[in-house]
Amino acid sequence: MSSAAIANVSSFPIYFLLRRLQSLGGIVFGGYIAVHLLVNATLIQGHNPDVYQQQVDKIHSLPFLLGIELTAIYLPLLIHTLYGIYVIVNGKPNVEHYGYVKNWFYVLQRITGIALILFIFFHIGGMYGWFGETLKFDHHAATASAARHLKASWLLWLVVYPLGILFATFHMANGFYTAAISWGLTVSKKAQDRWGYLCLGLFAFSFLCGMLAIVGAFTKTNHLLPSIGEKDAAHVRS
Ligand code: HEM
Repeated sequence: MSSAAIANVSSFPIYFLLRRLQSLGGIVFGGYIAVHLLVNATLIQGHNPDVYQQQVDKIHSLPFLLGIELTAIYLPLLIHTLYGIYVIVNGKPNVEHYGYVKNWFYVLQRITGIALILFIFFHIGGMYGWFGETLKFDHHAATASAARHLKASWLLWLVVYPLGILFATFHMANGFYTAAISWGLTVSKKAQDRWGYLCLGLFAFSFLCGMLAIVGAFTKTNHLLPSIGEKDAAHVRS
């Protein structure tokens, strides 16, 4: 195929549409991550009343929860990840030639994307109980089961979660920065710099929320662990 033909194939509207969908998926899921970490940071707050349990109860009392989760969380993540893999496989990093910070961020965006596939799979699978009862999240006993999950191994609270949160918050904030360019919202250098500072602030705040969640879960009592049933869950809340 000639180079002109290849250029025509890659500029076909379907690629433009997929690229926009991938970006939109990242923005929607990024918004969810920011809220998710903020909610989880309430683990650092008091146990009587149990503030984290109250937030989880509010979420679980929302109507159409499954529909909201599928359309606003899982579908955007799936589209973003699938096309993200395509972008990574076909991209050509140029860090060796231009050692600019932005080029390094370009590479880090891809490295954290791959790491996040593993982290998110472990996190979702663990919370849904695919890997056993100890890692399973019970929304009736939110605080105790979050503590049980995190304390299942030192590897989780010391390595997996701090790194997973670092990667997710970096990828989200750097993604918000590049997304504004993709959608033509920050055209001038000045606008990009201003938006860059806001994204840096969002990264620092979200990362702090994630760390507070780890410390909060770690310091919560787990005397009812490892197995929490409905009866115990009621006891935890009382
Ligand atoms: C915490 C989860 C994630 C969030 C919040 C997120 C968010 C974002 C955002 C907002 C962008 C910017 C889109 C743009 O520049 O228009 C982005 C870019 C990107 N994401 Fe993600 N993403 C996540 C997970 C993943 C995963 C699991 C992959 C797997 C491959 C991935 C791969 C990519 C790639 C390759 C880019 C760069 C696209 C480009 O420069 O053309 N992301 N992400």
